[in-house]
Amino acid sequence: MDKNLFFIDCDPGIDDAAAILLAGADPDAEVLGISAVAGNVPFRHTLANALSLSAFAELNAPVYAGADRPLRGEPLTAEFVHGANGLRGHTLPEHSLTADPTPAWDALYAAAKAHPHKVTLVALGPLTNVAIAFSKWRDLPTLLKKVVIMGGATHTGNITPAAEFNFAADPEAAEMVLRSSADLHICPLDVTERSYISKEELAQLDSQGSPQARFFAAVMGDSVDHYKDDYGVEGAILHDPSAMLYALRPALFTAKRCWGAVETEGVYSRGRLVTDAFSDASENPTCTLVYDVDRPAFAAAILELMQAYQ
Ligand code: RIB
Ligand code: CA
Repeated sequence: MDKNLFFIDCDPGIDDAAAILLAGADPDAEVLGISAVAGNVPFRHTLANALSLSAFAELNAPVYAGADRPLRGEPLTAEFVHGANGLRGHTLPEHSLTADPTPAWDALYAAAKAHPHKVTLVALGPLTNVAIAFSKWRDLPTLLKKVVIMGGATHTGNITPAAEFNFAADPEAAEMVLRSSADLHICPLDVTERSYISKEELAQLDSQGSPQARFFAAVMGDSVDHYKDDYGVEGAILHDPSAMLYALRPALFTAKRCWGAVETEGVYSRGRLVTDAFSDASENPTCTLVYDVDRPAFAAAILELMQAYQ
């Protein structure tokens, strides 16, 4: 059976790292490329981490450099969550991979041209690379099979009261992508904050014993107390793994068609996802919004997938 084809754009980032490990564990998935974008930490770290993760996840997929800053304004980072190096001080094994010289936006287009309507783009960071790609290659949005995005929130943001980090880091890029003709699937905080892994499940993951399982458990285990204190969640919230598992196992999730846009102005609301998903107001649908998950099955799928590593 043909494998499911993916291209991952990311800003690793501890949860990006966990998501990439899940993609590397899925026997039915083929990752055609990984592109790095500035986000959680400065671009030099996200690119270095993407290279390390392509090797560590046993993907050895080509890694492409993307944008080192947003389309407008100064970079927004989240070292308070991800640490200075983006992996909360954890390190990954040495490797010999180097970034492919093709820019991220051209590499994504080449992958989509080579496999028309078969490639799922999984976007786990600010959407700068995707917006540049869609602007440069006008047929790219409909050449892709679908675009799965971790971003936004229909309620309270996490980096500002109004906005989630990925959309707040580059609102112009997010709005450009949401106005595109791609088959958009958005995984906002509504679903990712329900996609958590408990301390007990993390202990099971660690006991699998592979370097990958132990790394996943370690980087996400560091944040359990943060999420308990700030969100009252008995475990570690897995933002990017939620979006990745939606791409790999969509049946675990609940979604609905709706209209969505990203505020690019606004004193208090810049970067906010605006949607009629839960509103009496109703516009013509432009995206699929993922808003719930079968959490026990989500955690079980992670434990099952991660057993692929030895
Ligand atoms: O708001 C969570 C998102 O922002 C995740 O993708 C995390 O890695 C950060 O990029
Ligand atoms: Ca991310």
